[in-house]
Amino acid sequence: MKKSLYLLLLLLIPLACVENTNKTDEKTEIANRAWWKEGVIYQIYPRSFKDSDGDGVGDLRGVIDKLDYIESLGVKMVWMNPFFESPMVDNGYDVSDYRAILPAFGSMEDFDELLAGLHQRGIKFVLDVVVNHSSDQHEWFKQSRSSRDNPYRDYYHWWPAEKGDPPYRYSLFDAEGNAWKYDSITDAYYLHYFAAEQPDLNWENPKVREEVYDIMKFWADKGVDGFRLDAFQFVSKDTTFPAWPKGYEKDFIKYVGMGPHLHSYLQEMNREVFSKYDVFSVSEGAGSTFEDAHLLVDADRNELDMAYHFETVDLVNSLEGYKLKELKEVFSRWDSAFAEKGWISIFLSNHDVSRIVSRFGNDTPEYRSPSAKLLTTFLLSMRGTPYTYYGDELGMTNIDFQSIEQYQDIAAINGYQKALSEGADMELHMQALNFLSRDNGRTPMQWDSTEHAGFSTATPWLPVNENYTEINVAAQDSDPNSVLNHFRAMTALRNNNQVLIYGDYEMLAPEHEQIYAYTRTLGEDQMLVLLNFSESTARMVLADGWRSAREVINNYTTLENDGTTVSLKPWQAVIMQP
Ligand code: NOJ
Repeated sequence: MKKSLYLLLLLLIPLACVENTNKTDEKTEIANRAWWKEGVIYQIYPRSFKDSDGDGVGDLRGVIDKLDYIESLGVKMVWMNPFFESPMVDNGYDVSDYRAILPAFGSMEDFDELLAGLHQRGIKFVLDVVVNHSSDQHEWFKQSRSSRDNPYRDYYHWWPAEKGDPPYRYSLFDAEGNAWKYDSITDAYYLHYFAAEQPDLNWENPKVREEVYDIMKFWADKGVDGFRLDAFQFVSKDTTFPAWPKGYEKDFIKYVGMGPHLHSYLQEMNREVFSKYDVFSVSEGAGSTFEDAHLLVDADRNELDMAYHFETVDLVNSLEGYKLKELKEVFSRWDSAFAEKGWISIFLSNHDVSRIVSRFGNDTPEYRSPSAKLLTTFLLSMRGTPYTYYGDELGMTNIDFQSIEQYQDIAAINGYQKALSEGADMELHMQALNFLSRDNGRTPMQWDSTEHAGFSTATPWLPVNENYTEINVAAQDSDPNSVLNHFRAMTALRNNNQVLIYGDYEMLAPEHEQIYAYTRTLGEDQMLVLLNFSESTARMVLADGWRSAREVINNYTTLENDGTTVSLKPWQAVIMQP
């Protein structure tokens, strides 16, 4: 083929995809429509997105500078990780003032401008609310620890030392795994499920709950459109602190999640906050059963709107990776459990895990691009609200940290100390960190091929991945065949086709070892999704109705289809329509 003709065809591909093939609107009444079900959420880690003032740390003005880029992605919501006043022990998940912006991130005027800029572009904003715990530098905690009869004492959980050792509780970030920290000022222990600098708030105290609702109303009055509740399944506690069996932490969620009054607190929050604004709500974690998740999000419960469960990201929690069969099984099981009632989040990455293409795709130069496109095709064609973590739209990959000194994340640093003191195999531990650590997913956004990837003029707080000269926005923006433009084509396809949002999901060929295939059906509208999750060609016989179907999106320029059987190239992803 002549080079110019080839280029012309390439250019036509994304255009072919944005066509509205929707037959649904006029013919099918869709029950329970909601804006937060229809758009894709783009997650921004503000420290790493764009630095506007040359201090090596991303900030709100940096996000403002990139609003047009965000709009160009076709996403309809932005969830931004915390940017409040904080000592940054856990990168902002330790808040010391819920109504103030950390100066390194900017000012309240910057926030207002950012929110207005998003709204002008038809994009909603989701606030991260971190209220299972605060920072130990929050005024409430400073007061609370100062004396046993301070009015803020009951804002946190205290265990007086004269009662003996507190009942064992596991901490996720503590170097000794101990969630009780002794404080000599009042001769008592306080509880911290995360780091010692993140004391757990006492939700059993109605004053704490009122304070939180006031904070949420402060932000809702500013115009935020949604709330993501951090670690919220842990907030309610049995304050008699019964003894739990040794090793209970292997079943952490079962013991620690869904405490005795969680549902009544959420109903209260819904009454006090959500019901008064046009906002949506999602909490991190969804208990340990479907029943838990339904109780959290079914519309008639008046609690939350959307479940965010971890079974899918948890498929990769060791060096062994995952099996396609399990991935299909988990996604299908969750889909069918929520087919009639409730709504779920669809994601395979966020700021707490390593890069999607390195975990679920193949990040070698040969397959990085097709596998990143396949993962986008997959997540944006499932039922539920899809979340895309910044940089995944480019196929950004894990960074290759070798020594513990390179890590910044408190979970990595304290986890290393813990493993060391327990005599773990440290070589293996470092390999697992290299593959799984959260810092992998937090390296600066790769904007262009200039120094520091165009993220900052100074040395960034976390190193830029060396592959930035090849993987960056500038290079991909102008390449019609890039991972980025495939992402844009997929958001356009989803935004224009209700079948991809509300359509019933049915898995085909569940036993196929390479291909994940499914249909989405809404009234007369139907799409077939074919995804080859492997490095070799994969074949599948098409059912009658699909033999002459046309492609609506394809991450390769061709599709081998002899009218009966399709042959998918390594990591090929295709969506077809009859
Ligand atoms: C969950 C957040 O996603 C994570 O980043 C944070 O470290 C913990 N909660 C503690 O807030």
